[in-house]
Amino acid sequence: MSGIFISFEGIDQSGKSTQAKKLVDYLRERGHEVVFTYEPGSTELGQKIRSLVLGRTSAGKIDSTAEMFLFSADRAQHVNELIRPSLDAGKVVTSDRYVDSTLAYQGYGRGLNLNDLRMIQNVATGGLKPDITIWIDVDLQTIQKRELPLFSDRIESEDRGGEKPFFQRVRQGFKEAYQSEPDRIFRVDGTRSVDAVFKDIKKVVINRIKLRDLYKINLKDWVLSTIEKVERGTDWNCAWKKTYFELGGESQRSCIDWEELKAVGSLFEIQN
Ligand code: ADP
Ligand code: TYD
Repeated sequence: MSGIFISFEGIDQSGKSTQAKKLVDYLRERGHEVVFTYEPGSTELGQKIRSLVLGRTSAGKIDSTAEMFLFSADRAQHVNELIRPSLDAGKVVTSDRYVDSTLAYQGYGRGLNLNDLRMIQNVATGGLKPDITIWIDVDLQTIQKRELPLFSDRIESEDRGGEKPFFQRVRQGFKEAYQSEPDRIFRVDGTRSVDAVFKDIKKVVINRIKLRDLYKINLKDWVLSTIEKVERGTDWNCAWKKTYFELGGESQRSCIDWEELKAVGSLFEIQN
C-alpha cells in the first residue's frame, strides 16, 4: 500500500515546524511509521544547497531564477532519495515546505512566471503531489508580533515593510493555490493557539488515514478515475465499484456502503 504524503506550507513564522512536529509525534505514538522531513536541506546534497541559497553571505548575490533552480534541485534530490522511496514503503511522509513554496515565494514573491514554474516543478518532482497540504494561514500583523529567529536566513530577513511587501505577495500565492486546489490544500487559521490549530490538522489527517486503511487503495486515484467514468456516462454507483476493483480493492468489501463512499468523495469535495 502506498504511504501518505503531507506537506506543510505558509509564510515564515506561521507555525509550520511547530505543527509538523506535533503531528509527527502524535502519529508515531499511535504506531504509524512517519518520516519527518523539510525543504530545503533534507539530503546531503540538499544541505549544501541550503547553505548556498539561505546563507546570509549570499545576500543580494543570488538571481531570482538561479534561486528557483536551487530550491528545485534540492527538491528533485529530496523526492528521489527520500520521499518517493518512503511512500513506496507505505510510510507517512510529512514535509515542512514543498512545491507550493516555490510557486508562492519565487512566483508571487519574486515575480517569476507561474506557468514556467509549474512546468519546472513537474520535472523536479516527476509529478509527485502531496495527498494533503496543510496551509497555515497567518496575517502579517500577527507574524510581526512573533519574534524573528535569532539567526534569520536570507529570505526570512526580506523587507517586511513597503506598500506591497514581499510576504504579503507570498501569502497571496498560498491563497490562490488553495483556491485553485481545495481538494488538496486545507487552510488552517494559524492565528489561534498552538493547540487549537493542531486540533484542526489532526482531524483532517486522521480522516484521510482512516479511509486509506479501510479501503487499502489509493483514494485519489479512486476518486479521479471514478469521475472519468461518470463523465463518460457510467452510473456513479457502478463507476465507484468498477474502479475499486480495478485498483486492486479486496473482494470482501464488494458491498460498499454508499455513505462511506460519499465520505471519500467529500474529502475531495466531489459532488454526486
Ligand atoms: P515556521 O516553521 O512556520 O517558521 P515555527 O513553528 O518555527 O514557524 O514558529 C515560529 C515562532 O512562532 C516560534 O517562536 C513559535 O514558538 C511561535 N509560534 C508557533 N505557533 C504559534 C501559535 N499558534 N501562536 C503563537 N506563537 C506561535
Ligand atoms: P526555513 O529556515 O526552513 O524557514 P521556515 O521555518 O520558515 O520554513 O527557510 C526556508 C526559507 O526558504 C523560507 O524563507 C522560504 C524559502 N523557500 C523559498 O523561497 N522557496 C522554496 O521553494 C522553499 C522550499 C523555501
